Amino acid sequence: MKTAFRIAVCVLAVAALASPSCAQDKVQTEITILVPERGQEETIVKINGKQLDGEGPKRVYKTALEKGKEVVFKIEALVEPNNYTKITRRKEIKLKGGENDKVKIDMTGESAFEELTKKDDIVVRYVPTPDDIVDEMSKLAKITKDDVVYDLGCGNAVMLIRPIQKFGAKKGVGVEYDPEIMKLAIENVKKNKLEGKVEIRQGDMLKLQPKDVEDATVVLLYIGDDLGKRVSPVLKNTLKPGSRIVSHRFLLGDWKADKSITVKGEDGGEYELHLWIVPERKIEKSSK
Ligand SMILES: C[S@@+](CC[C@H](N)C(=O)[O-])C[C@H]1O[C@@H](n2cnc3c(N)ncnc32)[C@H](O)[C@@H]1O
Repeated sequence: MKTAFRIAVCVLAVAALASPSCAQDKVQTEITILVPERGQEETIVKINGKQLDGEGPKRVYKTALEKGKEVVFKIEALVEPNNYTKITRRKEIKLKGGENDKVKIDMTGESAFEELTKKDDIVVRYVPTPDDIVDEMSKLAKITKDDVVYDLGCGNAVMLIRPIQKFGAKKGVGVEYDPEIMKLAIENVKKNKLEGKVEIRQGDMLKLQPKDVEDATVVLLYIGDDLGKRVSPVLKNTLKPGSRIVSHRFLLGDWKADKSITVKGEDGGEYELHLWIVPERKIEKSSK
């Protein structure tokens, strides 16, 4: 019985190898991916979840596609531009076997491909701002009892607690991506008995809708230049004119700061702080 089975397997294998249709219906296809090279770490590239070998500005993936059949490739580039930021850029392509056997995909996000970067996921790691520097930020923002303070990427909520305790802000709202860090924020708010005044929301600041920040009058940030560049249009187009944004160290893309100062911290370090005041929005004139 065993021998009969073995013979049958051999016959099928020989038949498959000999079949001209099998070989002819597959087309060798080469996908070359141009990779963003901003990293302190080598960019990792994945296709349909599988990491590609290689390093440098190009990665090549070879595959055999069935003639005329469409296949979807999900490409991911994982970039670490510095030791606190991780960017995931995604692109989906559809290829039909036999239509194009050499394909080039640009994931660099430069020039004409800038559009692609607008969907990047960006996460920065948790580094708290010292209390005295939060106070300097609050002074620069001229926080008063009328202010509702937001911190996008709120960490342990220090940028919400200090403005309420020291400057009398009426409310604080923190948005935090990492559930573990969010627990720190909630504990810190409880410890300071500010549950009635501070709200912590879990979420990605890049997914914020205008209504999510509409009551903010002050936004305090410590989020890196990449996140700053992405979040800046939402803030500029949503916050009420006259609202203030103060960022610890980092900038907001091409939105020029109204004021930048350097302050000395109690730890002896120098801290750069930047202030933006949301301008009046121009009202589009009707063409009629
Ligand atoms: C540099 S820490 C600043 C924490 C706090 N604002 C401070 O200055 O002490 C950045 C925080 O943003 C959070 N974060 C990173 N990426 C985020 C994202 N896309 N959306 C919301 N929070 C994010 C991190 O988990 C971290 O707690």
